[in-house]
Amino acid sequence: MMKTKERKIFTESNRAAWNEAMPLHQKAAREKWDKAFRQPGYSCIDEIERQLLIQLGIQGKDIAHLCCNNGIELLSLKNMGAGKCVGFDICDEAILEATQRAELCAIDCRYFRTDVYDIPPEFDAQFDMIYISIGCFGWLPDLPSFFAVAGRLLRDGGVVFIHEGHPFGEMLPVDNEPQTDFLRITEPYFKTEPYVEYGDLDYVGHSHHDSQKPQYWFTHTMSDILMAMIDNEIAIQHISEYDVDISNVKQRVEQAKAGVPLSMILIGKKTSLD
Ligand SMILES: C[S@@+](CC[C@H](N)C(=O)[O-])C[C@H]1O[C@@H](n2cnc3c(N)ncnc32)[C@H](O)[C@@H]1O
Repeated sequence: MMKTKERKIFTESNRAAWNEAMPLHQKAAREKWDKAFRQPGYSCIDEIERQLLIQLGIQGKDIAHLCCNNGIELLSLKNMGAGKCVGFDICDEAILEATQRAELCAIDCRYFRTDVYDIPPEFDAQFDMIYISIGCFGWLPDLPSFFAVAGRLLRDGGVVFIHEGHPFGEMLPVDNEPQTDFLRITEPYFKTEPYVEYGDLDYVGHSHHDSQKPQYWFTHTMSDILMAMIDNEIAIQHISEYDVDISNVKQRVEQAKAGVPLSMILIGKKTSLD
């Protein structure tokens, strides 16, 4: 496990980078989402995920979305019948947008600005489901501590539902890199140091932006992810893999239809401690 002080350097840098990027996302999509969620029952959840959530049963379930960004997935879960819905994110701008949209559209979701590692104990054992969606793991320097937080927020028997990028996809170039051979492996699967990048976080509007602020992206292998869950007494119940790019930055790879795993759904259940 990483020391708290070291972890904070990464997470606070990422906070600053996200605060800088959010206005670009908002320029590209804020109005669209405001309009969409004014329609009663609107959901942005894709069909594969929706079916699994229905099978799992989300009616009346209390849900915490970790790294919720602008909150739209949580609004969708609420519109699908979830109970208490609370989103957590480190980015000030994202939480402000999420809160304003929930009010504007009169959807009962609450959002808190916090580093996920610092979610206060008042939220412990308050949820039936921890929901994690695309683009969360990469910002996290320490997955075991992250799943320890997920575990403490859950009631016994609660589930962790994850719809994330597939670790294999991390080895291939993103769309704005110039390689023409975009199916060629260019990055290692096993990598302990983070990528340090500056700007270009606008995967929504696809505008280019330079930044002075470093952002840190961590790759995690499949075994890192599964073991971080298992070691925190979250038993794996389901895993499925897809050639669908849910990140919006590996569209070339998806369109090549080369059978590359680009996303996955993982479900784990908190086991009783006795
Ligand atoms: C790519 S978004 C994921 C949300 C959503 N699926 C989306 O695509 O917009 C990543 C989010 O993780 C948040 N984040 C990164 N590190 C975090 C941390 N340590 N604690 C809480 N949120 C964090 C960022 O602020 C950002 O809003």
